[in-house]
Amino acid sequence: MKKLLFQLDTDEHASVFDQVVGYDGGADQVVPYARVTPGHIRAMVEGAIFTRAPKDKKNTALFVGGSDLVAGEALMRAIQSQFFGAFRVSLMLDSNGANTTAAACVAWLARGRDLRARRAVVLAGTGPVGQRVAAMLAMEGAQVCITGRQLERAQAATQAMAARFGVEVTALAAPDGQTRAEAVSQAHLVVAAGAAGVVLLAQEQWRALPQLELLADANASGPAGIEGIEMADRGVLRHGKTCYGPLGFGALKLALHRACIGRLFEQNDLHLDAREILAMAKQMVA
Ligand SMILES: NC(=O)c1ccc[n+]([C@@H]2O[C@H](COP(=O)([O-])OP(=O)(O)OC[C@H]3O[C@@H](n4cnc5c(N)ncnc54)[C@H](OP(=O)(O)O)[C@@H]3O)[C@@H](O)[C@H]2O)c1
Repeated sequence: MKKLLFQLDTDEHASVFDQVVGYDGGADQVVPYARVTPGHIRAMVEGAIFTRAPKDKKNTALFVGGSDLVAGEALMRAIQSQFFGAFRVSLMLDSNGANTTAAACVAWLARGRDLRARRAVVLAGTGPVGQRVAAMLAMEGAQVCITGRQLERAQAATQAMAARFGVEVTALAAPDGQTRAEAVSQAHLVVAAGAAGVVLLAQEQWRALPQLELLADANASGPAGIEGIEMADRGVLRHGKTCYGPLGFGALKLALHRACIGRLFEQNDLHLDAREILAMAKQMVA
């Protein structure tokens, strides 16, 4: 029986990246849909849950993607509200690669370390990747603060994380280099999750911080979000701080995404979101 992955994307065009990884992760056929909204979900879910016998339902899976995490989460809720009893299929959320990217980053940061009680700052943590990094660090027990250029936007992101995962993350307005330097001055761990190409922290703002232990940068298209970190850094020591660059944890992100797709086809009731994907990432780097 063919393994069918229905790729439900909230964007104008369904992601090519997600389609390729869908095949590489083990789907026999990836069926992409674009511009999907909760209003479209009913017929799609009925098609997925009513077509195969109970023992065969694990061969049908749903993947929710697109660049908008809030829209992706709304789609997930709409899908889950259609499931009942054994009439369900496995489901994964990875809008903008947020879960797999954040999980790969946090899994490396947490590898061999206890993050509990460490102070973590996620610079520009209001986007999909930053929000997931912050939530996952909080799940690991860190004291997490996200920055954004506007306090209201950052607070809205922390409220969304609290509502979704029950984690406490604080918000700080840091609209420029000076305020971002102040934000990280007491941190043990800093992750840059800003938009591609935006430099958030200069090298001179972090290299002499005595309590800073760990730095990670998600920005895969140069210049680096944290000046001084190299793309391929994976646990490289710079000025006494352990550094991770986007390619340094990007290999795990890809392997993790593929592994998640593979897992979807092992059972018909798996729900892969932040917690589950982080647990898988931690197992993969153990
Ligand atoms: N390594 C990987 O495998 C991988 C995978 C996926 C994504 N990424 C990278 O991860 C990063 C985060 O992705 P994302 O989709 O979450 O990013 P995003 O939504 O595009 O941007 C994140 C945040 O950056 C802030 N920002 C935007 N322009 C700015 C500017 N000029 N100055 C300061 N802050 C600015 C915004 O926060 P405020 O408006 O609140 O300030 C925004 O919420 C990106 O660099 C992306 O390329 C890496």
